[in-house]
Amino acid sequence: MGTEFLLLFFSSSAFILMDAITAQMPGFISLDCGGKKDFTDDLGLEWTADDQLMYGETTNISVANETRKQYMTLRHFPADTRKYCYTLSVTTRTRYLVRASFLYGNFDNNNVYPEFDISLGATHWATIVISDANTIEVQELIFLASDPTISVCLSNATTGQPFISTLELRQFNGSIYLTQYESQFYLSVSARINFGADSEAPVRYPDDPFDRIWESDSIKKANYLVDVAAGTKKVSTHMPINVNNGERPPQKVMQTAVVGRNGLLKYRINLDGFPGFGWAFTYFAEIEDLDPHKTRKFRLVLPGMPELSKPAVKIEENALGKYHLYEPGFYNISLPFVLSFGFGKTSDSSMGPLLNAMEINKYVKKNDGSLDGSVIASVVSLYSSADWAQEGGDPCLPVPWSWVLCNSDPQPRITSIKLSGKNLTGNIPSDLTTLSGLVELWLDGNSLTGPIPDFTGCKDLKIIHLESNHLSGGLPSSLVDLPNLRELYLQNNMLSGTVPSALLGKDLVLNYTGNIYLRKGHSEGSRNKIIIGSSFGVAVLLINIIASCMLLQKGKKKCPNQGQLEHAMPAQRLVSSLTNAATEAAHFVTLSEIKYATRNFEKEVGSGGFGVVYYGKLKDGKEIAVKVLTSNSFQGKREFSNEVTLLSRIHHRNLVQFLGYSQEEGKSILVYEFMHNGTLKEHLYGPLTSEQSISWINRLEIAEDAAKGIEYLHTGCVLSIIHRDLKTSNILLDKNLRAKVSDFGLSKLAVDGASHVSSIVRGTVGYLDPEYYVSQQLTEKSDIYSFGVILLELISGKEAISNESFGVNCRNIVQWAKLYIESGDIQGIIDPSLHGDYNIQSMWKIAEKALMCVQPHGSMRPSMSEVIKEIQDAISVERGEGAAMEVSITCQLMSLLHGQPLDRIMGFNS
Ligand SMILES: *[C@@H]1O[C@H](CO)[C@@H](O)[C@H](O)[C@H]1NC(C)=O
Ligand SMILES: *[C@@H]1O[C@H](CO)[C@@H](O)[C@H](O)[C@H]1NC(C)=O
Ligand SMILES: *[C@@H]1O[C@H](CO)[C@@H](O)[C@H](O)[C@H]1NC(C)=O
Ligand SMILES: *[C@@H]1O[C@H](CO)[C@@H](O)[C@H](O)[C@H]1NC(C)=O
Ligand SMILES: *[C@@H]1O[C@H](CO)[C@@H](O)[C@H](O)[C@H]1NC(C)=O
Ligand SMILES: *[C@@H]1O[C@H](CO)[C@@H](O)[C@H](O)[C@H]1NC(C)=O
Ligand SMILES: *[C@@H]1O[C@H](CO)[C@@H](O)[C@H](O)[C@H]1NC(C)=O
Repeated sequence: MGTEFLLLFFSSSAFILMDAITAQMPGFISLDCGGKKDFTDDLGLEWTADDQLMYGETTNISVANETRKQYMTLRHFPADTRKYCYTLSVTTRTRYLVRASFLYGNFDNNNVYPEFDISLGATHWATIVISDANTIEVQELIFLASDPTISVCLSNATTGQPFISTLELRQFNGSIYLTQYESQFYLSVSARINFGADSEAPVRYPDDPFDRIWESDSIKKANYLVDVAAGTKKVSTHMPINVNNGERPPQKVMQTAVVGRNGLLKYRINLDGFPGFGWAFTYFAEIEDLDPHKTRKFRLVLPGMPELSKPAVKIEENALGKYHLYEPGFYNISLPFVLSFGFGKTSDSSMGPLLNAMEINKYVKKNDGSLDGSVIASVVSLYSSADWAQEGGDPCLPVPWSWVLCNSDPQPRITSIKLSGKNLTGNIPSDLTTLSGLVELWLDGNSLTGPIPDFTGCKDLKIIHLESNHLSGGLPSSLVDLPNLRELYLQNNMLSGTVPSALLGKDLVLNYTGNIYLRKGHSEGSRNKIIIGSSFGVAVLLINIIASCMLLQKGKKKCPNQGQLEHAMPAQRLVSSLTNAATEAAHFVTLSEIKYATRNFEKEVGSGGFGVVYYGKLKDGKEIAVKVLTSNSFQGKREFSNEVTLLSRIHHRNLVQFLGYSQEEGKSILVYEFMHNGTLKEHLYGPLTSEQSISWINRLEIAEDAAKGIEYLHTGCVLSIIHRDLKTSNILLDKNLRAKVSDFGLSKLAVDGASHVSSIVRGTVGYLDPEYYVSQQLTEKSDIYSFGVILLELISGKEAISNESFGVNCRNIVQWAKLYIESGDIQGIIDPSLHGDYNIQSMWKIAEKALMCVQPHGSMRPSMSEVIKEIQDAISVERGEGAAMEVSITCQLMSLLHGQPLDRIMGFNS
């Protein structure tokens, strides 16, 4: 029976059918395996019966409480050494989710629970282990398509028969699952959880436009979300949630959450496929209506990984407001099979942690497959309607095609081809002669015509069966050059000429009977012939090679130079995956859109810091700032796309929002939100200052905003981000004079924990940490130094470096201010344009902290959160909220002692 059903069905129309199935959502394919008729289910998903597409047997099953039509049928295959593959069309350079499900339902009336393997192409995807007749097993994989088709194969049954119930393909249209590893790894879905769900039903299509299945946290199964902390409560909202973009978790998932009323959320879960390295993201949105004095701040708690608990989540700030999504996560984290995790509130938070959703995927190393894959694919394409050409997947992995044998290298080569009696016509495919690992070739009993090709590319060939065909021409002397040839069968063809005597002299089984024009050469005469014949032969051979190269090139293939083929293939793959990474990254904007928005770069609004900035307005009226990077800022496409991906994940309300990027016509462009009030620099000492100087309280608020943005860079991400180039021209002001930090992330990421060593000192004179300058050891403390300089500028209204402002022998604001502050004369450095409108105590607080920040040694400088605390204190003082009169009086007395005019102090007091 085995071979019989192989002969059935498969026709090349299978692919066309697959292409046509795109009705409801582009890139959705839902195969009802074993089904006979197409149908649309209650969710609106269109199911296609795989009847016309796949061989194997089908069975109806009936499982209690399972009413979905796609689970009433299945397709099963014999438990043999073969693989059984579905081939689906995909769009290259697009990410997909592929989902296979298995409901056993005792279809074989055997109650032997099957166990078998599933693979995607050459890559082992999972071992399907059925442990209950009525439970659906589901496997999901996220991948970036690199070829126009994928194959999903079942093989290696160790018990029972391989079977499948459904096979689904869902196309993504963005880059949430972009990782730097995706050319070499797939993501196997391990957990995708909707916390606080109101029922046990999952959330999927149409709530999730990509039909991901968000499992309810309340379903009961072994080791699924157990050990829950006391005080865990469900919360939900009907308010819309801003999830930024369609690929983030759907609104319905984000509208529910769990909160830890006792300050802690805690869970334990088994992660299928782990231990290993994985991709793990959490999704947060503030959905409780907190009163304004309440705060919610918490940290991730992973036992044994204290370093990952460093960043604190402050949802509202991170997510730019209530009902907005914030999605911190890890691109690559080592996780155990049994994962305990939790979130704990920080000591300064009034509310316990909150969690809306979570996704954990495991990296599955892609297997590149046989080195002969593309060569044999072109052979197969010559016979695309033959059953043996339809087996699909990789020729060798996970198990070889029925007519092929392979060696056991990690990237195997084909060692044997058995196509005896397969009705082959035409010439012997010349591609076969490039299979360098070939040991046995069986092409006997076909209708092949034309000459015997040159097999010298197959050095290991031992056995060649070409008998019983219609081959013509002479025996090529190249056969003599096959060092390992032991058996050569040529009988019953139409070969002519003489058999080279060197062939006859070899230790070889040679049968050339039944070729009426083929003669055994005389040894005397034949030696002559060989000499003449061989020089003639070489010429013919050359012409042959040239001709076949030209032919092949016409057919868009490479000249069958074996070395070239071997090396060209992986390299090409690499290149195309790099371009993928660039084009797939978030928020791509076309250059023409940018040209339109900026009216062809009409209005320049700033420059420096990696490039020139232009004003722009999008069609929807949104104002943007367009930064055209100087060409040498980023060496290559790859660096650029990495940086851009990184940027798009950093958000905080005190960081200038990154909206998109473009890289066309040699221009690298970043698009940001437009900040109406320009840079802090312009307001402190630019032409704007004469019109209206910003008040001290405004300056404090600006300092607080900027400090929070920087604190987030330092502590909000697991790899802390060092800005490297903080200065007043990188602090931008919006309509309400609130500040955001810009140009972050354009410098490289700091290496986790340890100091970063870089060969080029980056930064701006006047703001540059002297310790970094000397040691080239970059830490967060270098940013603290620069921020100290900014605080001094806020106090004095003077530039960091100046030839005039600071008197003789002093060009530097730090040296200058230090002298005054340390001698107690703060008045001497305060910006006169403040016109005395400040509380001297708040001024002192900032001045002292600024001096701490510019300490020569990083270890002596405060952290950003200490600085923020001081600024907030200063703000309270300035607003008269927490005035500590004693200190205030001390400061005023000090001012007095340092010779400040009495009337200023009197005026202040009255
Ligand atoms: C399987 O079910 C289909 C309808 O879903 C029916 O037409 C068919 O006859 C059934 N086959 C068997 C063997 O019961
Ligand atoms: C089927 O559903 C009913 C009602 O929902 C339930 O009582 C019963 O236990 C279920 N049976 C199985 C086998 O799950
Ligand atoms: C088939 O599965 C068994 C058991 O899981 C495993 O030991 C064996 O290596 C597998 N064979 C192949 C060819 O994958
Ligand atoms: C991606 O899909 C989402 C959801 O269907 C849709 O809202 C969005 O417009 C799509 N984006 C693109 C670029 O096609
Ligand atoms: C993840 O990190 C580990 C250890 O740093 C590394 O070996 C591995 O290659 C990384 N990537 C993946 C996809 O596992
Ligand atoms: C061989 O090929 C011919 C023509 O393509 C076809 O008519 C014939 O049925 C085939 N025979 C077999 C056994 O496949
Ligand atoms: C050669 O092939 C012919 C035809 O297949 C066969 O009859 C003969 O026995 C073979 N000779 C040898 C020496 O194997």
